[in-house]
Amino acid sequence: MARRGGAWTAALLALAACGEAEVPPHLRVAGGTPERGRSVILEHGCGACHVIPGVPGAVSWVGPPLGEWARRGYVAGRLPNAPENLVAWLRDPQAISPGSAMPDTGLTEAEARDAAAFLYTLGAAGVPPVPAGMPLGPGEGGPRAEARLRPR
Ligand code: HEC
Repeated sequence: MARRGGAWTAALLALAACGEAEVPPHLRVAGGTPERGRSVILEHGCGACHVIPGVPGAVSWVGPPLGEWARRGYVAGRLPNAPENLVAWLRDPQAISPGSAMPDTGLTEAEARDAAAFLYTLGAAGVPPVPAGMPLGPGEGGPRAEARLRPR
């Protein structure tokens, strides 16, 4: 039992170290591992075009900065920001936004899942448990009566 507890503690520490523990369930990428994703992003040179906190050398402003990714409303202004949409974008940006300045990067499905899992650790601590864009609950929107959406 003590041994099992130790394994759990080690697993939790590993998760906490890469921020995955803070990623809310609706932003978790099935089959994706954030720490592997960081390597994928480094090896595929995403930092030649993006500012990506936590990735050495990723300081370029050719494309949009990817910090606080978990808080973003849309992927490339085309698809709601959700795990499967981000994976699809990373696999084939030109299919989603023909003519976009983001080139096809040649990621495999597994690499795209890992990279997406890493991106969702960015800013995840500040994401409310209910997805952005959902209607606010009673009283959540303050004293005004009209229906409002949770801000992104
Ligand atoms: C040659 C430059 C370039 C490279 C390399 C590149 N991107 Fe992009 N990326 C862009 C541009 C430009 C956009 C904006 C595209 C658009 O909105 O149509 C973009 C958009 C994105 C978006 C959506 C951003 C948003 O604000 O909605 C993500 C996520 C992203 N890239 C991740 C990556 C990852 C991960 C890699 C590496 C596998 C990568 N990019 C490689 C140029 C690049």
